[in-house]
Amino acid sequence: MNIPLLDLLREYQYLKTDVDAAIARALEHQHWILGPEVQELEEKIAAYIGVSHAIGVASGTDALLLALRALALKRKGTEFFDRDDEIITTPFTFVATADTILHAGATPVFADIQPDTFNLDPKEVEKAITPKTVGVIPVHLYGQSCDMDPLLALAKKHGLFILEDCAQSFGAEYKSRKTGSIGDIAAFSFFPSKNLAAFGDAGMIATRDPQLAELVGILRKHGGKDKYNVEVLGYNSRLDTLQAAILLAKFPHIDDFNRRRRAIAAAYTQALSVCETVATPTEAGWGAHAYHQYTLRVRNGRRDSLMNHLKAAGVDTAVYYPVPLHKMKLLQGRCRSAKSIGNTEQAAMEVLSLPIEPLLTDTEINQVISSTQTYS
Ligand SMILES: Cc1ncc(COP(=O)(O)O)c(C=O)c1O
Repeated sequence: MNIPLLDLLREYQYLKTDVDAAIARALEHQHWILGPEVQELEEKIAAYIGVSHAIGVASGTDALLLALRALALKRKGTEFFDRDDEIITTPFTFVATADTILHAGATPVFADIQPDTFNLDPKEVEKAITPKTVGVIPVHLYGQSCDMDPLLALAKKHGLFILEDCAQSFGAEYKSRKTGSIGDIAAFSFFPSKNLAAFGDAGMIATRDPQLAELVGILRKHGGKDKYNVEVLGYNSRLDTLQAAILLAKFPHIDDFNRRRRAIAAAYTQALSVCETVATPTEAGWGAHAYHQYTLRVRNGRRDSLMNHLKAAGVDTAVYYPVPLHKMKLLQGRCRSAKSIGNTEQAAMEVLSLPIEPLLTDTEINQVISSTQTYS
């Protein structure tokens, strides 16, 4: 039996009745641009996360970019940051976390991760702060929240903004609060592989700040309150009505799906923690992990060999992320960072993610476990 990392068709078949009905309703009303489903989804997600405003945009990348542009407008009164403005983030993330900093005009500054959680280390963030630092982008990687309290304390002390990158953490919690409700503003992705996933690109911004919410609302519509009163340089980045309809049909299942992800993770951890070649992921214990990925560390340079072994046993795996951002050509000469960032570089050589979608069967879970156990 082949176990793919993700089987989107299986999820569609499981939710088919609700998804098809949602699409059929949209086909009947034909309000394609900012139609009623967009507003309904925004309201439901704002209530779920525990913020006053959620604004649907075209992708998670645009959510980061528009959030940054809104922060520049609010805090500096300028449309963009400038190259002297430094934004601290993790180099162990998807490129969008940093390329949006460049698009917004600022300079990314990379600080190292904690080896156990793979998330930005607040102590390293503190060391990276200079008089030029304007903000921090913590990424809740693999679905586990960063340690937010020390970051909030640093933000307060130095007057920095916190933009949470929640692309992988829909439904995750930190000390009883949902990720996305903790910093000044947050960016979510509904890319098809995410825990809450559209049938294409889609994203959302969440914030408690009415001014940031208004600015984002303007930026997603070319920069004006209406088409003929454009005030700032904006984008066409509205959340598509059809994607909102699909997300509304899937949204009632998110807590069950995330619970199932946690149960699969617990089964993997229990079975694999005795294997000497791998280290199972650490749960920091400050709130529910959303297990967007279940990521092992494979010791002694054996990651690729385990990957090949699992492939031969019919189990697909993936490496998130093989290239730390400070090593990427794009960032050369455009970021500030130490030449070598130890914990990140080690993680990039050791991580391996196993299949963890919620509709995996027990037989498939056992196959993943036994195939990993037989590697020696
Ligand atoms: C951590 C992180 N940030 C940002 C993004 C960008 O989201 P999108 O692909 O929806 O543009 C992604 C995912 O793709 C991500 O994993």
